[in-house]
Amino acid sequence: MIRTSISLFVLMLFTLLAAPALVLAADTVCIECHGGQPGPLGEPVGQWRTSVHAENGISCHECHGGDPTDYAMAMSPDKGFIGAPEYADVPDFCGRCHVGVADAYKGGAHGQALEAGAAQCVVCHGNHAIQRANLDLINEEACSQCHSYERAALIRLSLVETDTMINTTEADLERLYRLGFAVDEMEDGLFNQRNSFHRIFHGVDVERVRAETADVQAEVGKISNQVAEIDTTIQERKLWGSAVLGLFILAGVIFLLVRKAYEEEERG
Ligand code: HEC
Ligand code: HEC
Ligand code: HEC
Ligand code: HEC
Ligand code: HEC
Repeated sequence: MIRTSISLFVLMLFTLLAAPALVLAADTVCIECHGGQPGPLGEPVGQWRTSVHAENGISCHECHGGDPTDYAMAMSPDKGFIGAPEYADVPDFCGRCHVGVADAYKGGAHGQALEAGAAQCVVCHGNHAIQRANLDLINEEACSQCHSYERAALIRLSLVETDTMINTTEADLERLYRLGFAVDEMEDGLFNQRNSFHRIFHGVDVERVRAETADVQAEVGKISNQVAEIDTTIQERKLWGSAVLGLFILAGVIFLLVRKAYEEEERG
């Protein structure tokens, strides 16, 4: 009896949790109808399924607007449908959600030269199969389509250097955490630095990237100095530990020798 009600409860919980995800991420009328279309009308569905957006429940209508529950009126402008954006409208289209990135982008050389055909969001990230971003997006093939790679390479260099430093410090903090040290404050500091770090790229300005990554490196450097201090303490503790252990062994040996001498004396 109890067992049945527990499994019933679990089932209900599961349905409650799964239902919104199914409605939003899989079963919209947009996906149903477009999934059955040939060519460019159908392709977005399969591509989108592999994306970081699908993974996070951002479906067609979150980007394109419209009513995901009304088969007949789904794409009516009255239902908020905005369709596919023109080339120069993409930054605002994506910037509804990625506000900080879009601001950095607009203030930089690409944003300023947008009307002249500079790279915008989907040129670098794609549109429907967007994956988590990383610095490999900066590569000669992608960046030399419109200009030389030289400046891009300098930007990449500063960013990779800082990225490596952040990752090393992260690994150090994990190690200390596993040893039982309180690392919350350092974790928070690193988290903030990582956030500001990932905002630097979109301004595509070599001097600013250098100055801002230097700031991040200085702050991360402070955290790794704290790590080094803790490591020194650990070393000292180990040294003291072995010294104390050595003393104990010595005391033991002396004790045995003394006892042996005493026993021999007793016998003799
Ligand atoms: C009943 C089938 C059907 C449904 C439902 C449907 N679409 Fe479409 N969609 C189409 C067809 C057909 C086209 C191409 C002709 C046109 O633009 O009307 C299209 C075109 C589009 C375009 C390209 C428009 C452009 O500006 O070039 C987008 C974006 C789009 N649909 C998104 C959606 C979204 C988001 C939903 C759900 C809110 C949706 N569709 C629901 C059939 C459908
Ligand atoms: C992250 C935002 C985003 C999501 C989510 C998204 N789209 Fe799009 N879609 C775009 C952008 C941006 C364009 C404009 C194409 C371009 O500039 O490359 C576009 C274009 C389209 C077009 C026009 C295709 C063409 O080649 O002209 C269709 C149709 C479409 N999307 C349907 C869908 C459907 C169906 C889904 C859900 C499975 C979906 N989109 C999900 C951003 C998105
Ligand atoms: C010239 C290529 C390029 C353009 C244009 C571009 N991006 Fe990026 N984007 C990148 C690269 C490279 C990264 C990785 C940067 C990093 O890890 O520091 C990235 C990272 C991101 C991230 C992850 C940020 C984070 O905090 O981890 C988001 C979100 C993003 N871009 C969205 C956008 C949007 C929205 C636009 C348009 C307004 C855009 N990107 C334009 C190349 C580009
Ligand atoms: C309706 C809101 C919304 C829109 C519009 C949108 N995104 Fe996203 N995007 C998200 C969410 C939510 C995530 C996952 C959470 C996160 O990591 O930021 C995400 C993740 C990303 C990531 C991975 C971030 C990372 O940490 O590496 C990139 C890149 C990205 N989006 C680019 C775009 C681009 C390009 C567009 C326009 C074509 C766009 N997004 C439109 C909400 C949106
Ligand atoms: C679709 C074309 C296009 C692509 C692709 C492109 N850019 Fe650009 N980029 C431009 C335009 C246009 C400008 C502004 C005019 C100029 O400075 O050449 C610009 C300017 C720049 C600048 C500033 C130049 C300066 O004077 O310092 C940098 C840095 C830059 N881009 C980096 C990149 C990187 C990194 C990538 C690849 C991830 C990339 N670009 C991909 C078109 C593009």
